[in-house]
Amino acid sequence: MNSDISNDMKKIGIIGAGDVGRSLATGFMIDNYDVMVGSRDGTHAAELDVVMGKDVAAGTFREVAAWGELIIIAVKGSAAEGVAGDLAEELAGKTVIDVTNPISDADPEDGVLRYFTTLNESLGERIQAAAPEAHVVKAWNTVSHRHMISPDFASIPTMPICGNDEGARREVAETLTSFGWHVEDMGSMKAARAIEPLTMLLCIPGFLRSEWGVAFKLLKQD
Ligand SMILES: NC(=O)c1ccc[n+]([C@@H]2O[C@H](COP(=O)([O-])OP(=O)(O)OC[C@H]3O[C@@H](n4cnc5c(N)ncnc54)[C@H](OP(=O)(O)O)[C@@H]3O)[C@@H](O)[C@H]2O)c1
Repeated sequence: MNSDISNDMKKIGIIGAGDVGRSLATGFMIDNYDVMVGSRDGTHAAELDVVMGKDVAAGTFREVAAWGELIIIAVKGSAAEGVAGDLAEELAGKTVIDVTNPISDADPEDGVLRYFTTLNESLGERIQAAAPEAHVVKAWNTVSHRHMISPDFASIPTMPICGNDEGARREVAETLTSFGWHVEDMGSMKAARAIEPLTMLLCIPGFLRSEWGVAFKLLKQD
């Protein structure tokens, strides 16, 4: 499959109203996109009511999935597969950015997160299988929500992405590039097996020393 749609100011449907949903909604709205943010009860936190003088639309997960043209899944990792399966019909044919990580409810050990997946599977693959006609692209999951938009580091950091649809990966790469990232296309969704654990590494300085201003950069020879 190859969805060749380019992101020409699509309507952005964000499924999830936590820190990630709110940070991405703000970033897209500042860039003049139409944005709708979804939560289970169809509301969102008051702090997201108005961005740049504009109301932020709220809806249920299903309303947002039906309305949006480019969808972002930003729910708790353990709920993500079920949410994607429930919305499979609304997500069919759309590019879906999967920002989730398979973090378990167990406490981190010495700052090391525990995952409910293994190294031979990934949450990204589960989400893609749950919504088989969606063009799911894993992205934005390897940085704190505080730095997803216009990351401010000594040099431009790298965001690895992956997904089974080449056109969707290209669209997501263009979107992330416009928000200040260097994007590294890692191919099919199987690469999420390697990308998702990067977040375990990313979070160790945060848990040990409250250093959350961390991002990865892939260095390449000329
Ligand atoms: N926080 C970060 O800096 C960061 C960075 C990169 C990736 N991520 C990943 O991005 C995702 C979102 O993270 P977050 O920090 O914004 O908050 P979160 O607490 O992981 O997720 C919040 C969202 O998940 C929904 N949710 C929680 N339990 C649910 C359930 N049982 N069924 C359906 N939906 C449920 C909530 O719905 P309601 O709104 O209805 O409560 C809310 O919209 C996670 O997978 C996380 O691992 C987070």
